[in-house]
Amino acid sequence: MIESPNQTLEERLAENPLLEGLRLRRTPEPCAMVIFGASGDLTARKLFPALYALAYRRLLPERFAVVGSARTPLSHDEFRDQMREAVSEHARDEFRTDVWDWLAERTTYVSTEFASEQGEDRVAAELTRLDDERGTSGNRVYYLAVPPEAMPKLVEEVGERRSARGWARLIVEKPFGRDLASARELNALLAGRFSEAEVFRIDHYLGKETVQNLLALRFANGIFEPIWNRQFVDHVQITVAESLGIEGRAAFYEQSGAIRDVFQNHLLQLVALTAMEPPIDFDAEAIRNEKVKVLRALHTPGPKNVVRGQYGRGFEEGFEVPSYREEDGVAPDSETETYVAAKLYVDNWRWADTPFYVRTGKRLPKRETTIAIQFQRAPHPLFSDAATDGLRPNVLLVHVQPDEGVSLAIAAKVPGQGMTIRTVDMNFLYGGAFRTDLPEAYERLILDCLLGDATLFMRADEIEEQWSLVDAIVAAWQRDRPSFPNYEAGTWGPPAADDLMHRDGRSWRRH
Ligand code: BG6
Repeated sequence: MIESPNQTLEERLAENPLLEGLRLRRTPEPCAMVIFGASGDLTARKLFPALYALAYRRLLPERFAVVGSARTPLSHDEFRDQMREAVSEHARDEFRTDVWDWLAERTTYVSTEFASEQGEDRVAAELTRLDDERGTSGNRVYYLAVPPEAMPKLVEEVGERRSARGWARLIVEKPFGRDLASARELNALLAGRFSEAEVFRIDHYLGKETVQNLLALRFANGIFEPIWNRQFVDHVQITVAESLGIEGRAAFYEQSGAIRDVFQNHLLQLVALTAMEPPIDFDAEAIRNEKVKVLRALHTPGPKNVVRGQYGRGFEEGFEVPSYREEDGVAPDSETETYVAAKLYVDNWRWADTPFYVRTGKRLPKRETTIAIQFQRAPHPLFSDAATDGLRPNVLLVHVQPDEGVSLAIAAKVPGQGMTIRTVDMNFLYGGAFRTDLPEAYERLILDCLLGDATLFMRADEIEEQWSLVDAIVAAWQRDRPSFPNYEAGTWGPPAADDLMHRDGRSWRRH
């Protein structure tokens, strides 16, 4: 069921009692949001659809404005037309003219070379104008979706022009640096102009419902925490698989590869949330304190425990697809990895000696992000081998996407006279239980920033810990040249990734 903006909470409750207790969140204070990099893909595919979804649910303040800013010369109307198209194509809700008009009325555009002084003066003038016209009270959100080289200058320019009235918040998109040194530089620059509480470093995985649900699952239930440790957990597997290739982003991807694009941020954040200790409360600092402890406790894996790969030609959903080296804009001898798998250890009391196997890759057979907690087998074999043939250990599987939900694999008796035992799944599916579609990560994150809540954003020290692990892995890679390509598009990655598991007598989850 799709929620309708005209339904009251009572009507929605009557349809689905599980929504009981839901109260609309408070509305943000009046403010203006500037999107730097507004002509990019992210603005069209994610940011405007998210703003539209928030407007649709009346979660934005009445006194609100959005200013798109990019190099492309566009009039206000041209920019609005482009965003209207983007919204009708990418929004999760039906297109409603009244909702769009509300947002379009509040949308303007300023063309500027990133961080040119005159350009920033024009943006600042536009914001002042909007304060008068729209009553945005000098409150600003600056969304920095610009290439890494443009970031430092832009931070300085924006910092210099922050309004004396109202508050300022900065949303910083990834990539956040390309190694520890550059991330530190950027953090230092930010710290010179803004306080840590004003900086919102985005990792959109943290905005995904299912990722937040991991915290609910662990800390709102009494039954999981006591067994969430090395005594009961055999190992953890985290997979961020994508079937898509690089989607025309060669210039970015050649510089980044799977380790900087997904491993450094999304994957390591999933590890941190899975492994962290219970925080003392549910606020930004308490949660981030616990996450950073996990990141700090991550043991650098030796070269044998990291596998990198690059896809060759293959088939994706029946269609032949080119190898990575044949993609437009990729060097024919590129050594950029499109796949990484690693065995990680969290060196602390809870997790000592419990491996976390993680993997991410492009052009795998399907898009799927899962966190699998595999428990140890029952200690005493009560049933005959024949009765339990093929029985798998208990696995708690968090389906981050798609088919969002949680399932628990348990052993159950097959009905009949004999005693045959098989693995079955107990399933919770979001769609089925709450009968509402899930918000996009960016909706949640933009709204949280407007409300000043940084819980789902990364702190400077988390980013730096993530980079120091990545730097160590990448440094080891410099010692030998990879023999790429080493997996076919449409397969589950290089054979060495299977060996990584087989050496330990384990295997990757079957899909
Ligand atoms: C982005 C990466 O951060 O995350 C992309 O730059 C990747 O390469 C994307 O495709 C995956 O996000 P999602 O939400 O589609 O899983």
